[in-house]
Amino acid sequence: MGVKLVNITKVFPDPHHPGKEVVAVHNVSIDVKEGEFVTFLGPSGCGKTTTLRIISGFEYPTEGEVWISGKLVNNDPPNKRDTSMVFQSYAIFPHLSVSQNIGFGLELKGLPKETIRTETERIMVVMNLTNLANRRPDQLSGGQQQRVALARAIINKPSVLLFDEPLSNLDAKLREQMRLEIRRIQKTFGITSIYVTHDQGEAMTVSDRIVVMNEGNIMQIGTPFEIYSRPANRFVADFIGRVNFFEGTVTQVREQGISVRFTHGVEREVASCAQTVRSGDQVLVVVRPESLKLFLKGPAPMGTGSNSRGVSERILQRVPVQSNASSGQPFLEGRIDKVVYLGSVCEYEIDTGGEKPVLAVTHNPIEEGFFQPGDLVGIDFASLSAHALPQGN
Ligand SMILES: Nc1ncnc2c1ncn2[C@@H]1O[C@H](COP(=O)(O)OP(=O)(O)O)[C@@H](O)[C@H]1O
Ligand SMILES: [Mg+2]
Repeated sequence: MGVKLVNITKVFPDPHHPGKEVVAVHNVSIDVKEGEFVTFLGPSGCGKTTTLRIISGFEYPTEGEVWISGKLVNNDPPNKRDTSMVFQSYAIFPHLSVSQNIGFGLELKGLPKETIRTETERIMVVMNLTNLANRRPDQLSGGQQQRVALARAIINKPSVLLFDEPLSNLDAKLREQMRLEIRRIQKTFGITSIYVTHDQGEAMTVSDRIVVMNEGNIMQIGTPFEIYSRPANRFVADFIGRVNFFEGTVTQVREQGISVRFTHGVEREVASCAQTVRSGDQVLVVVRPESLKLFLKGPAPMGTGSNSRGVSERILQRVPVQSNASSGQPFLEGRIDKVVYLGSVCEYEIDTGGEKPVLAVTHNPIEEGFFQPGDLVGIDFASLSAHALPQGN
């Protein structure tokens, strides 16, 4: 049955300007299916926490309806709603052991000691906490404390788990580990989950669907794949990952995709479009850095590049000079301006004479080789990886 929000709006009195109001959440609707993991993603202040607090009952909506498991809960206080919240601060009791912390909720319910023991043990096994059962919180790492907090939320078997930026206190490596852990545990128990984060990598990892928010409004709802590869508008394209925008005019609309003449005169096919367009419409075409294909047109002039010229030559061999235009002319040409070598990938800023540098990424530099600053490159893309946004979007 999941969670359903219908036209939720939340207006607060503005604390800084008496008499004025802040619209924290505006007309938000979503149907979260039972067992689904949905993440609200957006910049700080966009209304994520307010939305979550409205679901949990810590805040009441100004307008709209909240449904949990098929029941309208607008007027129910938090303890009458079948939800459990996992916070950023772990909120576990310092004077209780791990197993006591986890079993605490069941003790409050007055369940028999034996039931509490078996339930606690079962959950500690799933969460890899068994050998920490007798430790106290101050003897645990941040990640372990977060696992205890999660176990404590899950043991009550809520219909809905709510997470508000639960990993922000952890260091980067642990965060990555924990988000996989959260996903695994959510799948194991099949609990409907609503998660809030401003971290797009986190959202991509844990979610079945992502709700991208900005200034209280939903910008797009979609799977991680849809949000990343087929963004609904400029905000989503820009907020999720890195992106190149190329301006152009639609010259042809076919059943599958469109043709676009770009401002520098070159024409290309673009596989998808956020909305219906017509010939003559202005569009902004989105191409991700890793979807750009680079090929060497001319090495850096002597003395400007590095001495590993052989590496560039190998790229020249592996990526044949080709483009999807009949003229054989590349989409763009430019000089490699900046190279950031990250081990698994290489990132480039390419000066093509435009306002902003073009961003490109190549993979597996150890085998594929990589370019040097000053190299002259051709740049192109496959129509499949290009996505058009009607202008003004
Ligand atoms: N109790 C409140 N009173 C006034 N304004 C609030 C209150 N709570 C949140 N806001 C405002 O509502 C907007 C959304 O806040 P919030 O939901 O906390 O955003 P997020 O969690 O996405 O960072 C912000 O502009 C915030 O300042
Ligand atoms: Mg918040």
